[in-house]
Amino acid sequence: MKKECVLVSGGAGYIGTHTTVELIGAGYDVVIIDNFSNSEMKAVEGVRQITGVEVPFEQVDTCDEAALRRVFEKYDFNSVIHFAAYKAVGESVAEPLKYYRNNLVSFMNICALMREFGRRNILFSSSATVYGEAEVLPVTEQTPRKPATSPYGNTKQMAEDILRDCCAAYDGIRGIALRYFNPIGAHPSALIGELPRGVPQNLVPYITQTAAGIRECLSIFGNDYDTPDGTCLRDYIDVVDLAKAHVAAVGRMTREAMKSDYEIFNIGTGRPVSVLELVEGFEKANSLKLNYKIVDRRAGDVPAVWADTSLANEELGWSADRPLEETLRTSWQWEKHVRGIE
Ligand code: UD1
Repeated sequence: MKKECVLVSGGAGYIGTHTTVELIGAGYDVVIIDNFSNSEMKAVEGVRQITGVEVPFEQVDTCDEAALRRVFEKYDFNSVIHFAAYKAVGESVAEPLKYYRNNLVSFMNICALMREFGRRNILFSSSATVYGEAEVLPVTEQTPRKPATSPYGNTKQMAEDILRDCCAAYDGIRGIALRYFNPIGAHPSALIGELPRGVPQNLVPYITQTAAGIRECLSIFGNDYDTPDGTCLRDYIDVVDLAKAHVAAVGRMTREAMKSDYEIFNIGTGRPVSVLELVEGFEKANSLKLNYKIVDRRAGDVPAVWADTSLANEELGWSADRPLEETLRTSWQWEKHVRGIE
């Protein structure tokens, strides 16, 4: 029997590589496209090494419609997972047009070509950032979205709306938006993981780089929030669990099991964890001490957000399984692998 094929845009990135590995493990063929704006060929090689499959790769910018069209002509996929996007909140405030152009033009190209070529399933990589500072926690998919506080966040909301409208207007097009909470960790092989360029903006890469001696000291942004220990609460999800959610969502689309043409799922653990708990968990999981200090709050941070995951649990038959301690171990294994530390 012919295998289902999935196009993965941004497939050389952090979540793209892990998702490709899980898709192949679940029996799909995958085609990766990436422009390496924030990744490297080494990531694709890591995927090939883990899976033992010479996964096809094309260096294509999804904003380049002609180049993307050639991918549609060459490969016979019926589903696309669209990861390719910029994701630095601060940079998006400084350079909004860069973000609107890259994140929206690329997605519109994907949607238009899916329609033109009669391909069916579009999975969009959205974010819990769309909820902003929610009044009721945990957030469900019904929790109202808040006006975005950055162009980055706005591109996630706008792309969700583009997908919703395309699914309503065009026969044969269906879509799922997965709203990720905070993806962390790495593949247990330590062959793929997150590779931030420059100074990391996200918590776990900053922690692992501090442990590796690349950063002197982790700054914890605020301990005067109205939370149990005063630091912010987030829902940290293991990237392999997150990757599996994509496999479940693609399966739902290809099995024709969707209840409507456009669906949204929260993808998290449902468990709030504070910054301090995460730092202490990292120390314990890896038997080391981390240099950290408390500093002022970071502008734009919400005090707390975590997911109600019941919809994904019930409808996708998926749940986040990996214990946080193990995830924090894989984060460190990966950092050590990248830096050549033993
Ligand atoms: C951030 C983005 C979010 C985006 C996500 C992508 C902001 C405000 N939000 O989420 O829109 O979808 O990344 O991964 O940028 N922290 C420290 N010290 C650090 C770094 C972080 O204390 O050096 C704290 C933060 O204050 C926060 C928590 O760690 O409480 C998590 O931060 P981060 O990893 O940046 O994720 P979010 O801010 O939740």
